[in-house]
This record gives sequence, structure tokens and C-alpha cells, in this order.
Amino acid sequence: MRTPIIAGNWKLNMNPEQTAEFVASIKNELPESSKVESVICAPAVDLDALKKAAEGSELHVGAENAYFETEGAFTGETSPKVLNEMGIDYCIIGHSERREYFHETDEDINKKAKVLFANNVTPIVCCGESLETREANKQEEWVVGQIKADLDGLTAEQVSNLVIAYEPIWAIGTGKTASSEQAEEMCKTIRETVKDLYDDETAENVRIQYGGSVNPANVKELMGKPNIDGGLVGGASLKPDSYLALVNYQD
Ligand code: PGA
Repeated sequence: MRTPIIAGNWKLNMNPEQTAEFVASIKNELPESSKVESVICAPAVDLDALKKAAEGSELHVGAENAYFETEGAFTGETSPKVLNEMGIDYCIIGHSERREYFHETDEDINKKAKVLFANNVTPIVCCGESLETREANKQEEWVVGQIKADLDGLTAEQVSNLVIAYEPIWAIGTGKTASSEQAEEMCKTIRETVKDLYDDETAENVRIQYGGSVNPANVKELMGKPNIDGGLVGGASLKPDSYLALVNYQD
């Protein structure tokens, strides 16, 4: 059985003080990790505060990005090795904002996934189509292409532990959620792609999140779909009450 995983993606919001306050206000009301895994992915400058504040609680912590080298002359980058040393569990890679504004390619994302695994940090690999691609009815082809390129060369064991986030770009931060049917359809396609690339067991194990305007009002319906194992949540993860409503969606 796949454990549901709800991850906040704070993006470029919050400072260390706000991070500590936020975590202090939610840490005693999180579901048990065996029921629902609660994750917050924060900017690199907040990770130390996030990790310290989460100590002894059910909260898992994640970064929003990392580089595909672990050390050297790469000004401004974040090392996967140091994320591991800090006890960071997850790292988002390939978010559409990074692909668009920072020109990240599938090749970069694939290299990042490999280096993160080598350093015991679990990647949350994002994929998803633009509105233009969906309007041209090319979304499946697009997302399958991203998955094949991003996972290239990963082992079945790695992919079994991976998290994939399907985030249609037209639904991110727009208040326009994909319908639960549209989200399920693509998450199913992604699972079938993993099955084609690997095997049944790997496809059964990989956790697939939906992301794009997930909120406390729609989370339950989305999570009720057989191929949706979690949510990657931006805006609605920024307030403690809303975050708690998301992770406690089963109550
Ligand atoms: P949103 O962002 O929930 O604000 O739409 C989701 C994301 O970008 O991960």
C-alpha cells in the first residue's frame, strides 16, 4: 500500500522566524506518518530552521531545488550532499517554475535525480503540460516524454521510492484546479509509463501527487482517486490552518 503524501511547496515565501512559528503551531496536530506523510518544502535559507522546528514531530522536510553537483565552483547552488547532512528527506526537482524561469531541462532534472538518490534525499520529480499543449490535446505525449527523460537510467528500486508530481501548468496558482478526472487520468498514464519502463511492482510502489490549486475544499475528492497518492500544494500550504486541513483530509 502506498502511504499518501501531502507536501507544501512554500516557493519564495517565509523566513526562518516565520518557519519556526509555523511549524510550532502545526507540529502537534499532524497525522501519523504511517497514515499520511506530511511534508513541507521550503527555500534553502529556511531549511535549518525548518529541520530544527520539526524535530521530534511527524513532519518531513524538503528542499525546493538542489544542484546536480555536490561541491565545487557553482556559485549560488545548493548541494544534495549538504541536504543529506542536514537530514532533509525530500527535494522537489523540475518544478515548472524552474523549467520556465531558470531554463532547467529534462537532462538537468535527470542528473539531479541521480545525485539526490546517491545522497539519500528522495526527489519529488515534477512534470506537467502548458495550457497550449492541453488545448492541442498533446498533454499525454508531453508528460510521458518528460517522465521518460527525467527517469532515464534510474533503477527500479529508486523509482519505487520516488515521488512524481503531476502539475498542469495552467492549474498552478490560478485557482483553476484540474478536474479530479483529468488529474486521475494523467496520474494513471504516468503509472502506466512507469510500468512500461520498469515493471508492475515499481508502478505499484511509486507515489504520484497531483499539484495545481489543491486546497482544503478539493483535496478529499482528489485523494479519493485510485492513482492519486498525494498533493503538492503551493498557496494553500502557507497558512497553518489550511495546511492542517490538507494533511488531515482523512478526518
Ligand atoms: P498552487 O501551487 O497550489 O499554488 O497552485 C502548486 C505548485 O506549484 O506546486
